[in-house]
Amino acid sequence: GFNLKGRHLLSLEDYSKKEIEYLIDLASELKRQKYAGIRPKNLEGKNIALIFEKPSTRTRCAFVTAAVDEGAHPEYLGKGDIQLGKKESVADTARVLGRMFDGIQFRGFSHDTVTDLAKYAGVPVWNGLTDKFHPTQVLADFLTIFEHKGYLKGIKFAYVGDGRNNMANSLMIGASKVGMDFRIVSPKELFPEQSLVNKAEAYAKESSAKITVTDDISEGISGVDVIYTDVWVSMGEEEHFEERIKLLKPYQVDMNMINMADEDVIFMHCLPAFHDLKTTVGREIEQKYGISEMEVTDEVFESKYSVAFDEAENRMHTIKAVMVATLQ
Ligand code: CP
Ligand code: NVA
Repeated sequence: GFNLKGRHLLSLEDYSKKEIEYLIDLASELKRQKYAGIRPKNLEGKNIALIFEKPSTRTRCAFVTAAVDEGAHPEYLGKGDIQLGKKESVADTARVLGRMFDGIQFRGFSHDTVTDLAKYAGVPVWNGLTDKFHPTQVLADFLTIFEHKGYLKGIKFAYVGDGRNNMANSLMIGASKVGMDFRIVSPKELFPEQSLVNKAEAYAKESSAKITVTDDISEGISGVDVIYTDVWVSMGEEEHFEERIKLLKPYQVDMNMINMADEDVIFMHCLPAFHDLKTTVGREIEQKYGISEMEVTDEVFESKYSVAFDEAENRMHTIKAVMVATLQ
């Protein structure tokens, strides 16, 4: 078996193909048990700290429900609740929380904050999204692909849109580890950092993955099993709406793109999604830029191809697996 006890999860860079597959298998087993009404309480008596500098629906709720299912106590520490980095250093906060909690989740801006927490906490630290990576989302996405396709190695996966955000980065690393035929399809201005592509290519050599970075939609999308997109403007980048809309409009996932893919293609999105603009921020964008959909059309989002809500549910099962594997 695998012993991941005591390990952090900051990025999938630190996990081998086998370890990633193990976490997905464990998530699948825990999901099966939950559906069967079995609550094994693997984390009875544990305390989990959940630090959030940014809002969250899925990640927060996944950690809370997963912890409670397993008998652990989750404590939400929101922006404004603790002094983290403001009146108390990250290192000191980490050492305090590490004396009280068995594991710490961090969502926020700088990836350096999560690596510092990990350095000083003395207990497992899990990255629930930083500016650089969102590894727990990738585990949920891979479980979802496995459930729909039955395998991961060799999956033709196109990530379309902002090619240098946390999702593009983490999917590229994850896909290169598990051996996918992975494409970033984005305008040149938003291509991923070359140093990260080099890393992915090194992993790809071991797993026989293939990494393609292209601005050519037909090259990127033709025959793929998965089309994935994410918001054009990530949390904390709100000043970039105008520029991103200009750059990314041609990369909106629509039925034309779906029709270029394999006939059994699935559409994926980590959520939240701007498939229509019927929200307060959405209406502001609609007024200002005269568009009514952003990264994906409502038609695709609501179509039979979309598995976005399976991914959302799977956040809970995979986060549960991460906590059980690293704490038990
Ligand atoms: N996908 C995701 O991380 O969603 P939240 O921002 O709601 O946690
Ligand atoms: N790239 C997005 C992902 C949200 C889950 C963001 O960082 O806002």
